[in-house]
Amino acid sequence: MASLSLVDVSKQFGTVHAVQPSSIEVADGEFLVLVGPSGCGKSTLLRMIAGLEPVSGGRIWLEGRDVTDLAPRDRDMAMVFQDYALYPHMSVAENLGFALRMQGLPRERIAARVRETADLLELTPLLERRPRALSGGQRQRVALGRALVRQPSLFLFDEPLSNLDAKLRVGMRMEIRNLQQRTRITSVYVTHDQVEAMTMADRVVVMRDGHVQQSGPPMEVYNRPANAFVATFIGSPPMSLFEATATPDGARLASGLTLPWAPGRPPVRPGPVTLGQRAEHVALGEHEDAPGFHFSTDVKHVEDHGADALALVALGGAPLLARVPPGRLRGGAQAVRLRLDLERLHVFDRTSGDAL
Ligand SMILES: Nc1ncnc2c1ncn2[C@@H]1O[C@H](COP(=O)(O)OP(=O)(O)O)[C@@H](O)[C@H]1O
Ligand SMILES: [Mg+2]
Repeated sequence: MASLSLVDVSKQFGTVHAVQPSSIEVADGEFLVLVGPSGCGKSTLLRMIAGLEPVSGGRIWLEGRDVTDLAPRDRDMAMVFQDYALYPHMSVAENLGFALRMQGLPRERIAARVRETADLLELTPLLERRPRALSGGQRQRVALGRALVRQPSLFLFDEPLSNLDAKLRVGMRMEIRNLQQRTRITSVYVTHDQVEAMTMADRVVVMRDGHVQQSGPPMEVYNRPANAFVATFIGSPPMSLFEATATPDGARLASGLTLPWAPGRPPVRPGPVTLGQRAEHVALGEHEDAPGFHFSTDVKHVEDHGADALALVALGGAPLLARVPPGRLRGGAQAVRLRLDLERLHVFDRTSGDAL
């Protein structure tokens, strides 16, 4: 177990700044998820931690030791990739033990470690099988086992679930998290999938274009996004955004409709802003005296999700998503009264996108 510390780590490929100077701390035993759209620099950052890619600048510390210039094998880390290429001609047991054989561990020690690991991952009945006789999920578990068997100080994952189908992904997500909670191995997990980030992380780091945008516990990032990018990237469906002008009384939409500021909200300097509202903070406005901003709108479209439904409506002409109970609304210009929670209205600077 170990803590990891990145200090101003950056990477440039020629003229491409893949990772801007970034400082990230991972506490001992923590499960940190690096999340962001494809091409934002996640894999590059992970590969620098692993030593597979030299840094252009900055230092990497593991458990108080500067590992920046160490070879991958001297870093005491194990990595699990998206394409977890198992050795096809070896049994599960041989695949699991391979790294330990390379280290020259005695046979009995290897056998014991393989047994322990197989036990932890429920692979014991499969030890004599070849990879081609395994399901996708079982292969992924063997790949995890291969990393785990080395008892690394740090676990690195690069989109390990991207090749699995949706149902298996949910199961594996829980398995990985459960395994990590039992072993408490400090982990850095890279994904472009915000659902994985929300559900797995102790703490998320949101990246965009090589820059860290925000870091914090998932719910904190969800509830208090630092900017409009994070607001729309984290959460499903994405937060609805609309343009407005801040005035002393409230935010005036293009249609002239003004949303009053929530009481106690820090004042917003008059000028152009972007507003954001999450679908679950727009409710059916059944009681006119309930707190919030009541408005009438047409329902353009409804998506039923079983447990709830998403309705596409309009607020002063701007599209807005509302999460409503199933079966209550139908699309096709049905008129409805809705209520917007002003306490949960997000306000961003129009130019910088920063939360105000
Ligand atoms: N070996 C490389 N040579 C040149 N450019 C690279 C190399 N590896 C990655 N890049 C570029 O760096 C950026 C970040 O890539 P990457 O870290 O793979 O992103 P992510 O994993 O978030 O999808 C991209 O613009 C990518 O094209
Ligand atoms: Mg990648």
